[in-house]
Amino acid sequence: MFINRLSLRQFRNYQEASVEFKKNINIIIGNNAQGKTSLIESIYVLSTTKSHRTSKDSQLILFNEDFARIDADITREHDDLKLSLIISKKGKRASYNGVDQKKLSEYVGKLIVVMFAPEDLCLVKGGPQCRRRFMDMEIGQLSPSYLFHLGQYSKLLKQRNELLKQLRTNRTNELLLDVITEQLVSHAIYVVNSRVDFLNKLELFSKRIHSDISNGLEDIGLSYVNSFKELELSEEIMLKKYKDLYNQDIQLGSTSLGPHRDDFSVSINGVNTHQFGSQGQQRTASLSMKLAEIELIHSVLNEYPILLLDDVLSELDDARQTQLLNTIKNKVQTFITTTSIDGIDEFVIELADIFTINNAKIRIGDMNDAGNDEYTTV
Ligand SMILES: Nc1ncnc2c1ncn2[C@@H]1O[C@H](COP(=O)(O)OP(=O)(O)OP(=O)(O)O)[C@@H](O)[C@H]1O
Ligand SMILES: [Mg+2]
Repeated sequence: MFINRLSLRQFRNYQEASVEFKKNINIIIGNNAQGKTSLIESIYVLSTTKSHRTSKDSQLILFNEDFARIDADITREHDDLKLSLIISKKGKRASYNGVDQKKLSEYVGKLIVVMFAPEDLCLVKGGPQCRRRFMDMEIGQLSPSYLFHLGQYSKLLKQRNELLKQLRTNRTNELLLDVITEQLVSHAIYVVNSRVDFLNKLELFSKRIHSDISNGLEDIGLSYVNSFKELELSEEIMLKKYKDLYNQDIQLGSTSLGPHRDDFSVSINGVNTHQFGSQGQQRTASLSMKLAEIELIHSVLNEYPILLLDDVLSELDDARQTQLLNTIKNKVQTFITTTSIDGIDEFVIELADIFTINNAKIRIGDMNDAGNDEYTTV
């Protein structure tokens, strides 16, 4: 799939902008703080209804305005579609071919993106929260039912934690704890099984890609780490573990086990990358996972997602840039942001269309095309 036209209104530092993009590689150059990340963030938000860098939607709205709007014309393998998302202080409204979508969870999945940004190093270096968010976002894009179960799980978890706090002072309502725990387990098992399945598939694709990048020297491994510390989990086992911990959970006033505490580990040649990986290995491992995601999405949808690379390409050496290019060439519409074209390999530039952003104004051509002042901003 690819974006033909993207229009922004009052999104981040953009007052109004409308740009046409080509199917292949789009390089977006600009000095710091001009609006490069904001531009590709808008594509990510249009796709997932969430930002990759903030959980506060109001930050996406241009200062002193009431709403932001993102529109795009998209071509997919078998159809064209128009997506639109309005973010206001009251909430978000999404529409698909002009029809308002009642549930955002059903809207997600029309436009599929993979983002690779400097923050993604947290996949290997960061805490479990980053890896859980990664799994949730990626599985959610492919599966509305995952988003449903995850949403139910979060709601029940909140209720359970409130109840646990009440029980700390007054242990009269333990029956309700049974009821909530049983309901929680029915969604928890779905979430855990989906994540395990996702990681197994992602591992398969990552292995091939990582081996290519490392000239066959490194074998990457991904495995789900559940907080129950069980190799095989069933609803029965989960329920028993929750019940065994009733007293502890009541003391803590929170739920100590479950998908909200789970994680996954990344290893190279059997050694944990989080603890022992070199900087380069950590960066390569997160790149392999992102490229694997592209292939995984293709295997599920028979269609390639859109790739967003924020400030990461010039950080990669030639071998990694080549591997990346082999994965995307003629298949994946890619948006690359950078402050300078210097670190980007010739062969990538040759295939690309170049745009320059200056103070939220987008112009075709690089910074040296002084004569070309044809701003696409309307
Ligand atoms: N809601 C908002 N309203 C107006 N301006 C905003 C809003 N949110 C962010 N900005 C500003 O938008 C500008 C562009 O930010 P952005 O992150 O897109 O820059 P960038 O081109 O990616 O820069 P860098 O090269 O430093 O990553 C920044 O000056 C930022 O402070
Ligand atoms: Mg940026």
